[in-house]
Amino acid sequence: MLECLCTIILKTDPMNRKHFIVTTVLILLVFACSRDLPGTHKPEAFEGFRQPGNFPAPAYHFETNPVTKEGFELGRKLFYETRLSRNNTISCGSCHIQSSAFTQHGHDVSHGIDDRLGSRNTPPVMNLAWSPLFMWDGGIFDLDLQPVAPITTHEEMDETVANVVAKLQQAPEYRTLFQKAFGNDQISTGNLMKALSQFMLLCVSSRSKYDSVMRREGTAAFTSEEAAGYTLVVQKCGGCHKEPLFTDGSFRNNGLDTGTNKDPGRYAVTLRPEDRYKFKVPSLRNLAYTAPYMHDGRFYTLDAVLDHYTKGVQAAPGLDPLLTGNGAPGIPLTAGERDQVRAFLSTLNDRAFITDRLLAEQ
Ligand code: HEC
Ligand code: HEC
Repeated sequence: MLECLCTIILKTDPMNRKHFIVTTVLILLVFACSRDLPGTHKPEAFEGFRQPGNFPAPAYHFETNPVTKEGFELGRKLFYETRLSRNNTISCGSCHIQSSAFTQHGHDVSHGIDDRLGSRNTPPVMNLAWSPLFMWDGGIFDLDLQPVAPITTHEEMDETVANVVAKLQQAPEYRTLFQKAFGNDQISTGNLMKALSQFMLLCVSSRSKYDSVMRREGTAAFTSEEAAGYTLVVQKCGGCHKEPLFTDGSFRNNGLDTGTNKDPGRYAVTLRPEDRYKFKVPSLRNLAYTAPYMHDGRFYTLDAVLDHYTKGVQAAPGLDPLLTGNGAPGIPLTAGERDQVRAFLSTLNDRAFITDRLLAEQ
């Protein structure tokens, strides 16, 4: 091809030659720019909700809120809509940032309206179709009810749902979008919540190397280090971080000290003394993008997390039996095993998820 271009250039007369070269370079540039950058993904076509081959059946009630293209697109617009907050500055996406697997990377506790700080770390919006309960303490049982919490929380969006609905009702573009999605341009709280759920239900992370290996896609295979780490994680962490979601959705005490804000965890919801300091087991997917870790974001690195499990577990009442060990609390890991665990955990990072243009602000 290059040879052919050179012959044409040499055969062209000098006046036209310059013009020809400039045009060719421009065409080649446009062609190069239209190609995918490495690591990014083309916008995916809308395919609705699909259960990945290696995942269990979802927990969400799709029968009362089927995901449609129009509903999903409306939900996406709402997720990135700052009018959901009192002074129109904060959207759901301000705290749930896609490039950080929909967490607020770098913030230990959430950072909301008027620079107010919350008391908990922002969890990822990821694989929530499989989650039976929401929030670190499981205080919310239906995804369709969840947005009421951030909209009305003083440190988050500090608005009322009625005001949000009124603001949207005044915007002709939203009336059109609600009409398209739900056949009604009178915006209701129910349809607002359903649209947000439709967006969040499609935030599915299932394209990591681990998933490719499990689904036997192409030549995907673990290195020997990753394979050894996989065995260790299944044995030593899998009792709580159960594959393929890497959480069993339960509430447990993993031996953290109570921390500065003495967050009582699940106890605040159930008032059962045995639930004191229990938190929802978070997933181990996408850890490369979601630091800091734990309900209060106390650990900034994975090494700090592994230090906790190997030597920091507190033998307090309520400590999960899986961590009481043989004599000493915690999970013993040699230096070599730690490296293997880390190698495996990195196979759970899903770049396709954090760069999927379908989930980005449009
Ligand atoms: C100021 C930051 C902030 C904003 C804004 C925010 N969130 Fe969150 N989100 C959080 C924090 C912090 C939690 C954990 C709260 C808890 O456990 O008490 C959370 C939890 C969640 C959860 C539960 C996830 C799980 O695994 O249980 C969902 C779903 C969610 N947010 C969706 C939304 C939606 C939808 C919006 C917009 C309407 C929104 N968030 C706005 C910080 C924020
Ligand atoms: C007894 C159940 C249990 C076991 C076993 C366990 N974990 Fe956890 N893990 C939890 C709970 C509960 C939390 C959340 C605790 C909190 O924030 O208060 C957590 C949090 C984490 C986090 C933070 C994730 C985030 O998004 O903040 C990481 C990373 C983690 N565990 C890794 C591991 C690894 C690696 C192992 C095995 C070596 C392991 N865990 C074993 C229950 C467990």
